[in-house]
Amino acid sequence: MAMQQHADLTSLNTFGIAAKADRLARFDSVDGLRELLSTPAVSQAPVLILGGGSNILFTHDFQGTVLLNELPGIAVVQEDADHVWVKAGAGVVWHAFVLECVAQGWGGVENLSLIPGKVGAAPMQNIGAYGVEIKDNFSSLEALDRSSGKVITFNKEACRFGYRESYFKREGKDRYVILSVTFRLNKKPVLNTSYGNIHQELDRMGISDPTIRDVSDAVIAIRRSKLPDPTLLGNAGSFFKNPVVPEALAYRIRAEHPDLVAYPAGPGMVKLAAGWLIERAGLKGYSRGTHGVHDKQALVLVNRGGATGSEVFELSAHVLKTVQERFGVELEREVNIL
Ligand code: FAD
Ligand code: EPU
Repeated sequence: MAMQQHADLTSLNTFGIAAKADRLARFDSVDGLRELLSTPAVSQAPVLILGGGSNILFTHDFQGTVLLNELPGIAVVQEDADHVWVKAGAGVVWHAFVLECVAQGWGGVENLSLIPGKVGAAPMQNIGAYGVEIKDNFSSLEALDRSSGKVITFNKEACRFGYRESYFKREGKDRYVILSVTFRLNKKPVLNTSYGNIHQELDRMGISDPTIRDVSDAVIAIRRSKLPDPTLLGNAGSFFKNPVVPEALAYRIRAEHPDLVAYPAGPGMVKLAAGWLIERAGLKGYSRGTHGVHDKQALVLVNRGGATGSEVFELSAHVLKTVQERFGVELEREVNIL
């Protein structure tokens, strides 16, 4: 497989950061991946598996090999009266997979329409939107153990999914290459339209008895109205997670700000909307010229063109500090920092 030296990664990360990698190669088969991993130059230096580059911030050049995942394929592997088990190659574009499920009438991932990136990265942070996370319809995944070269199957428990979390983002980090993901989808879809303004959007579309395609279309319309399109404005979606804090802290903030946005998050805990906190800390639309805080969605940091990864990282540190000083809440970055 062709190996590119001193590769430019600008178009391979949705922040549009002009980082370089010592080497870059693509793989579209497990054998091809194994071959690349055993090449001396690759095996002796760090390796970064890259999907769509939509959840990553390069703060420096990557001294190692970037391997671009292009493992293809969507196939039904099992079926019963109510469900279909669909296996997707890790290199399949996530939104293309969702559209295929919608076209086939398989319910379960329609609320996750238009999330950028590839199938293989979806389990990394248990992607979620509009009241659904991939763990809700996840069956299993296959991953290559880089140290043994063996392909291992992980069931849902083994993935230890949490809110924007998994085993692969923690203990399993850099040890496995996710090769495929199998979802258990519904032949008789049960719609989830409870989150946010999905209902409102369906009303606006004049739809009273929605199908999964309608829900997908509504989610796409809401996302387009709120989130910047990375092809036009560099970003990686929410830069921070929504923080889960003790109820007592939320009560203290609410005493001063009755419109605090908070959701129940288990006994004694609440999840706060980080976008609200950042906005109320006065940072929505905050600009440092080449980069800043998005003016429509404060959870999103943007590269307007020419910012370095370190500058964006420094901006994120400024946001963390300001929110901590203003509300006593510790935000955590969602984006993978390199
Ligand atoms: P990459 O950025 O390429 O990789 C992310 C991490 O996963 C890296 O550490 C990488 O090494 C690792 N990785 C990637 N593929 C593999 C693999 N096959 N095996 C092992 N490790 C791997 N996320 C949400 O959860 N919900 C949203 O609503 C959402 N909205 C977004 C909106 C926008 C506009 C943008 C830009 C991003 C959004 N995201 C959202 C974040 C992002 O789209 C997801 O995290 C997505 O799953 C990242 O996929 P990717 O292929 O681009 O991953
Ligand atoms: N809000 C503000 N100001 C802002 C942004 C948001 O006050 O600038 C308030 C909104 O008014 C709303 C609340 O915060 O009351 C929540 O906003 P929204 O519904 O837009 O969702 P979010 O919490 O900002 C999360 C995810 C998104 C996901 C959406 C929809 C996280 C970190 N982010 O955003 O995921 O698409 O919900 O489900 O959980 C991502 O992870 O990259 C991502 C985009």
